[in-house]
Amino acid sequence: MSAPPAAAIAAAKGALAKALRVVVLTGAGVSAESGIPTFRGPGGLWKQFRAEDLATPIAFGRDPRLVWEWYAWRREEVAQCRPNPAHLALARWMGSRPGVTLVSQNVDDLHERAAGEVARDAEAAARAAPIRLHGSLFHDRCARCDHRARGGAVDATSVATLPHCPACGGLMRPDVVWFGEMLPVRAVEAAFAAAGEAEACLVVGTTGAVYPAAGVAHTAKAAGAAVIIVDPGATELDAIADFRLQGKAGEVVPLLLG
Ligand code: APR
Repeated sequence: MSAPPAAAIAAAKGALAKALRVVVLTGAGVSAESGIPTFRGPGGLWKQFRAEDLATPIAFGRDPRLVWEWYAWRREEVAQCRPNPAHLALARWMGSRPGVTLVSQNVDDLHERAAGEVARDAEAAARAAPIRLHGSLFHDRCARCDHRARGGAVDATSVATLPHCPACGGLMRPDVVWFGEMLPVRAVEAAFAAAGEAEACLVVGTTGAVYPAAGVAHTAKAAGAAVIIVDPGATELDAIADFRLQGKAGEVVPLLLG
């Protein structure tokens, strides 16, 4: 797929340059070129696996070993992946100007790793870190007392070998948001506050099929923001796009933000 016309990129670039405040919303597509499957695309996770068996609290209650086996596999897969040019361009751009808030639906840690690679110092890396709407693949949370911890290797041979809570002894679970669960309140508040005052909204690699996350783009649009969408395929947010850049994130985002 060839890159969008230079004029289209220049126009979108102009909208970003004149915006004092920008909200960026990313989805699985931004990590596709790093080798992480999306959810609904060809070969997507929900094409290969049944979400209802793996990504709901009921599934975890029914068979925590199976759920952990799957998340342990995803952790290993993601740990072998690297940030791609889209992650790096976003992190560099966020380090080079104020007023950008990054909101991600992704549970991988590639945005943070990119920030760590390109940021000049820890403060700049922290500024380029995303607001996580759907949690993190590399953190655990106690299913009983909510104690949180950095996740490690998981032995999913039996329930007894699964991670247990150091505080209450309960079963730990991946600290990701499963279907039917509430999103972390502070993350939602921060994301929608940024969207409500944005003058531009950059959407990269999401179908925009899942709410409330997709509401970030709609809220920015309603606040008068110019909406820029980067995606090789059609998305459910296309109707609100002011600039629609058809292409892969790893190719288009560096052109747009470089
Ligand atoms: N560059 C940019 N976008 C891409 C690329 C790429 N290289 N490859 C695929 N895409 C696009 C697809 O066209 C699609 O629009 O990425 C999008 C991926 O959409 P989904 O698979 O639906 O993923 P996402 O929108 O992030 O899903 C939202 O749903 O399953 C839940 O919690 C999960 O966070 C996830 C949420």
